[in-house]
Amino acid sequence: MTRNDSPLYDPLYARSLSDPEGFWAEAAEAVSWIKRWDEVLDDSRAPFYRWFTGGVLNSCYNAVDRHVEGGRGDQAAIIHDSPVTGSVTTLTYRELLDQVSRLAGALRARGVEKGDRVILYMPMIPQAVIAMLACARLGAVHSVVFGGFAPNELATRIDDAKPKVIVTASCGIEPTRTVAYKPMLDAAIEAAANKPDSVIVFQRPQAVAEMRAGRDLDWVEAMASAEPAECVPVAATDPLYILYTSGTTGQPKGVVRDNGGHAVALMWTMRNLYDVKPGEVFWTASDVGWVVGHSYIVYAPLMNGSTTVVYEGKPVGTPDAGAFWRVIQQHKVCTFFTAPTAFRAIKREDPEAALLKRHDLSGLRALFLAGERSDPDTVRWAEDNLGVPVVDHWWQTETGWPISGNPLGIQQFPIKHGSATRPMPGWDVRVLDAEQREVPRGDIGSICIRLPLPPGALPTLWNADDRFRKAYLSDFPGFYQTGDAGFIDEDGYVHIMARTDDIINVAGHRLSTGAMEEILASHKDVAECAVIGVADSLKGQVPLGLLCLKAGVSRPREEIVREVVALVRDRIGPVADFKRAVVVERLPKTRSGKILRGTMQKIADAQDYRMPATIDDPAILPEIAEALRTLGYAKDQPAAF
Ligand code: COA
Ligand code: AMP
Repeated sequence: MTRNDSPLYDPLYARSLSDPEGFWAEAAEAVSWIKRWDEVLDDSRAPFYRWFTGGVLNSCYNAVDRHVEGGRGDQAAIIHDSPVTGSVTTLTYRELLDQVSRLAGALRARGVEKGDRVILYMPMIPQAVIAMLACARLGAVHSVVFGGFAPNELATRIDDAKPKVIVTASCGIEPTRTVAYKPMLDAAIEAAANKPDSVIVFQRPQAVAEMRAGRDLDWVEAMASAEPAECVPVAATDPLYILYTSGTTGQPKGVVRDNGGHAVALMWTMRNLYDVKPGEVFWTASDVGWVVGHSYIVYAPLMNGSTTVVYEGKPVGTPDAGAFWRVIQQHKVCTFFTAPTAFRAIKREDPEAALLKRHDLSGLRALFLAGERSDPDTVRWAEDNLGVPVVDHWWQTETGWPISGNPLGIQQFPIKHGSATRPMPGWDVRVLDAEQREVPRGDIGSICIRLPLPPGALPTLWNADDRFRKAYLSDFPGFYQTGDAGFIDEDGYVHIMARTDDIINVAGHRLSTGAMEEILASHKDVAECAVIGVADSLKGQVPLGLLCLKAGVSRPREEIVREVVALVRDRIGPVADFKRAVVVERLPKTRSGKILRGTMQKIADAQDYRMPATIDDPAILPEIAEALRTLGYAKDQPAAF
């Protein structure tokens, strides 16, 4: 057998592309349907494809009720492990069913019906999962907003989703501070044009929220008086959730997820990619505010009848770099998923893995990494110390589940460091050049997926079909443009190298430099600006601002830098991690006036760069390098060639 032979995977992958309807109809047997579909793939409105048209189901029923009915009532559904509050609590599937149906009843009592939107602004507590499932139970559309976003970002999402109700907790807990959520939510509602009718607040003792009479309702009281609600049948094509993600402007994109395709795809991945069985413990250390949390903290493990760990802590500092190993041992985690940055943080504090060696990790079978490129050093460190396969897998908020990975439940491919292995079924991955031609194996280009996308991928953007088409489908007709650049090697392995747009990845968090530029430009003294993502040994990338001041501004530059840093934190939130900016006299541009961000980023990271043929004035580049050096970047800059 040659290295390329993959007897189990190859025919399966080939069939997923040649007979997608047959492939996904078989996969759909793992889902409980109220009514089976009329059509597996509906292309009547192409390029807006729909899956399982005519099918009726309920995602909450699939994640909760059916496991209680099937005898898993006493099994742990959620283990909440919270080193920041020093507590571990478990909810069985039966208890989860009770809580979810009560909250669904409480939401219904506040007027929430099928199709209504509910925004959730929650920390990593079981109530976040309960609230998501309660919405799914009613056929209402949830939209979770990550706690590290500021009121302004929350307000933008409130105005776009127009929720009837918002569910929140009084606070989140970061290792160094308690983050009071309720005042931020109040400020966001104040700023939003569209006001929700009600707010349900889960009070935590660390910071009790003030309630607004007539609008706000205490979670515990609401649950106590609620009539438990049954599952509402929804169409497979009805939206389950909206998840906002960074686009190229300050206006985030509302990625829509349907019910049917989502359930089918996630079930397929639990068995075939992650290789996790019902009853086993699966842990994803991320946040419910991200797609990774939606898919692999909440829906996939629960739909699969597994136990999910909801972890309210960090890889380091809660209390130390052994936190992950403690959780894996204590809760008998078989499969673990996190972002490479978390491993870099652990490796930095405990390079010899001394804390790891004090734990019994014999139950761990695999580690999955995603959210950013897995650098080979980190993968090697994890492999050496864990002794299990370390799988880099690549996906996006839009896709909902991995585009490429190593399908441990089918056939384990040899791991190549720096690659996210092979495309998963349904993803027809192609690398194209600017003329939309496929490039030879090994050459870098834009990574695109031939339409239709498989079940579970976004059908459109919320109330924005045109933006969906323009953002993803127009540059490469017939394809979905991922926005990532990379190559496929001679063995068919996918390598993701960079973004083709202005999105950067900070500690596994997706951020738009364009959105940050809009904020910097709003400062009264800033004439022009650019934000670039510079390399960071812990977070992968961090944003850095370059500011040109308006003529005649004579205030101290450090003061202006401090103000713009505060402005971004205030408008986007601490998650932006915008802490570095420098004032420059001018920015390098092409003759047509386009700012050369890519060239500045290469200078900052001290990489070789090619002098752009269209540069207006090459003499600006040494000035930029000089300015970047004052922040510790652009060291030993190689000469341009
Ligand atoms: N609510 C409020 N604030 C939050 C928050 C939340 N849910 N999550 C993060 N923040 C804040 C942090 O407190 C920090 O604030 P600071 O600037 O005052 O210190 C800021 O946002 C940046 O947070 P983060 O990027 O997490 O940096 P960190 O230095 O606190 O931690 C790591 C670094 C590597 C330990 C951390 O980023 C991590 O665990 N990353 C894992 C990545 C991950 O789960 N990604 C999800 C996609 S898979
Ligand atoms: P998000 O939508 O927040 O999940 O971010 C998606 C983006 O993160 C992708 O488009 C990639 O740029 C990056 N990304 C996610 N996983 C990987 C990976 N395994 N390797 C490289 N980049 C990744």
